[in-house]
Amino acid sequence: SNVKVVVVGSCMTDLVSYTSRLPNPGETIHGHKFNIGFGGKGANQCIMATRLGASTAMVAKVGKDSFGENYLENFRNNKVDITHVGVTDEASTGVAPIAVDDSGENCIIIVAGANLKMSVEDIKNAEKMISEASIVVCQGEITMEATKAALVTARRYKVKTLMNVAPAIENLDPEIYKNSDIFCVNESEASVCTGLSVKDVNEAKVAATKLLSLGCGSVIITLGEEGALYTTKDGSQHITTEKVRAVDTTGAGDAFVGALAYYFAYYPALPVTEMISRACRVASISVQAQGTQSSYPSRDLLPQVLFA
Ligand code: RIB
Ligand code: NA
Repeated sequence: SNVKVVVVGSCMTDLVSYTSRLPNPGETIHGHKFNIGFGGKGANQCIMATRLGASTAMVAKVGKDSFGENYLENFRNNKVDITHVGVTDEASTGVAPIAVDDSGENCIIIVAGANLKMSVEDIKNAEKMISEASIVVCQGEITMEATKAALVTARRYKVKTLMNVAPAIENLDPEIYKNSDIFCVNESEASVCTGLSVKDVNEAKVAATKLLSLGCGSVIITLGEEGALYTTKDGSQHITTEKVRAVDTTGAGDAFVGALAYYFAYYPALPVTEMISRACRVASISVQAQGTQSSYPSRDLLPQVLFA
């Protein structure tokens, strides 16, 4: 196939409430706006890569319900190949109730549902497509067996693997590290993976070194408005980014990962630090609008320097 970016991951229907502040345990508060959006880290990343111009496919599972049907239509509208998006009647489409406060900060609960019906068999069915891709991208919202099978399959065909362990997973299967060419996490996820405190660039360097020792080819730790840290066996480089006023940071990490996948697939000769810098820029544009996929910019609305 001509698909260059294959995302093996999650689809969730985002149920987003906008509130002046996040609620405390036991508390009821008023929100001032509600939106239903297309989310799930896997699908978000896939849509971001697609908006930048990538030819993409999603390997995923939705429920046999209206959320699932709408999701398939969303993929079709965005021109994502859905040959390997299954529909199951064993669980409902994943949902994510989300609260976003006035500063753009969020809280998310995911009920993964159909995403947890992803099996090794599903990956087998997508083997041909994976083998012909430039890069395979995974996250932490489907079954670990399926994720592991996707990474191992990609590796077998020398297809680049990008693993984004989001949300954080304790005691991650060692095979995940070993089969990740690029291992990408934010500070709190890096902390859960390593058991170390990761609150600044220096602590991130220590954590990245530990992650490398577990067998990842390279490590990217995103640092919010401080940019990102890129670490290989040759050392760490801190990539800074311009600060912006955030409206809604939900899905910014996914915008980053999706953009990164696009650059690896379409600009393989760019220095990785430059890919990271550009992906940070795309992510920072996404935080300036509400929602996840609904805030992802398409290529024609972006500065052309991002495509030089
Ligand atoms: O990263 C943001 C995403 O996390 C949301 O779209 C939500 O669905 C959860 O998966
Ligand atoms: Na956003």
